[in-house]
Amino acid sequence: MKKIDVVAAATVYESISELPTKVQGLMHKAIEARANAYAPYSKFNVGAALLLENNQVVLGNNQESAAYPSGMCAERVAIWKAASEYPGVKVKQLAITASSSQTKVDRPVGPCGACRQTLSEYEINQKEPIEIYFMGEIGKVVKTDSLLSLLPFSFDSTYL
Ligand code: THU
Repeated sequence: MKKIDVVAAATVYESISELPTKVQGLMHKAIEARANAYAPYSKFNVGAALLLENNQVVLGNNQESAAYPSGMCAERVAIWKAASEYPGVKVKQLAITASSSQTKVDRPVGPCGACRQTLSEYEINQKEPIEIYFMGEIGKVVKTDSLLSLLPFSFDSTYL
């Protein structure tokens, strides 16, 4: 028996203005997308913006339903939109932001487990890491160099 350390490296930016200029632009797109979220039940709006290798930016936001489990997260709306509109085009970066009418979201909001799992499959298939940047409404922005660094011991198709 031995213990191992599973380490996830991340870069923390003090605010959006510290990000590289192009990434700031992508985060602003995510902020725009966030404004169009349909979240009347949680009142928690999430916006996602994907930068593809063909320079297209694909947006997503969370979409809820009165039948609560039928809703969908912003990140999966965005990745499935990208995969359906631009199949096979690699994803370079993903920017995520969240806000709430109930509380001030002043710390970074990472993608949920189901979104990490979904995104990981596209990262594995494209054989190139996806940079993830995530924040709340204000405050720090966290960057990870890949999706898989957010999902150690992940499940993938090789187990099937
Ligand atoms: N949500 C996302 O859009 N992305 C996440 O990664 C976490 C949660 C949405 C789902 C739901 O509409 C609301 O936020 C509250 O959970």
